[in-house]
Amino acid sequence: MQQSIRIAPSILASDFANLGEEVRAIEEAGADYAHIDIMDGHFVPNLTIGPDVVRALRPHSNLPFDVHLMISPVDAFVTMFAEAGADIITVHPEAGPHLHRTIQLIKSLGKKAGVSLNPATPVEILDPVLDEIDLALVMSVNPGFGGQAFIRAALGKIAALRQRIDALGRAIDLEVDGGINFETAPEAVAAGADVLVAGTATFRGGPAAYAENIRRLRGAK
Ligand code: DX5
Ligand code: ZN
Repeated sequence: MQQSIRIAPSILASDFANLGEEVRAIEEAGADYAHIDIMDGHFVPNLTIGPDVVRALRPHSNLPFDVHLMISPVDAFVTMFAEAGADIITVHPEAGPHLHRTIQLIKSLGKKAGVSLNPATPVEILDPVLDEIDLALVMSVNPGFGGQAFIRAALGKIAALRQRIDALGRAIDLEVDGGINFETAPEAVAAGADVLVAGTATFRGGPAAYAENIRRLRGAK
C-alpha cells in the first residue's frame, strides 16, 4: 500500500560550507528524511563526502539519514556508514558483487536496507530480494549529479514496483530520485512513489523557501 508522502531533501544541493545549518533547516522546514548522496568517482563520475562528514552531521539532526551509496565495491563502506549514523543504507545492484549478501550485512547492523535501480536497470532484478528490503529506489536520472532532467521511463518502473510491493503486502518505501520538482512530483506519486528525493527543488531560494518548497513537493493544499 502506498504510504504517506515523505520528502527526502538531497543535501547535495545544499550549501556544503554550512552543512550542519542546512540539515537543521530542512528538519525545521518539515523534511521527513535527509538524503545523503555518497559518490566515489568510480561507480559514478563525481565525488562527494565520506563517513566522517555523516558522523559530524549526526548531532545536528533527528531526521532519519537516508544514505545513498554510489560506491563500488560497496560492502566495506556499509559498516562505516552504519557506524557514522546512517538509518537507511541504499546500494546499487551493480556495485555488488553480491546484492543479497550486502542486504544481509546492512540488516545485521540494525539498519534499513534499500536497493537503487539505475535508469537502465530493470525492476525484475529486485524480485529475488524484494521481501528482504525496506526501500526500493527508482533513479529518474543517471546517478552522479544533481540538477538533471527527469527521465520519464522511471514512471513505468515505479508503477511496476508499486504492484509488486502491494502484492507482497509489506511496507516497503518506494522512493524516486532525480529531477523531482513541482511538476514531476505529482506524476511520481500518481505512479505509486511514496518517498520523493528532491535536491534542487528543496534548496532553491535559500532557507526561507525550504518549508514552502517541501510543502509543495508533498502536494499539500
Ligand atoms: C544523483 C543523486 C540525487 C541528486 C538529486 O546521483 O542520487 O539524489 O542529488 O538531485 P536533484 O533533485 O537536483 O535532481
Ligand atoms: Zn540520491
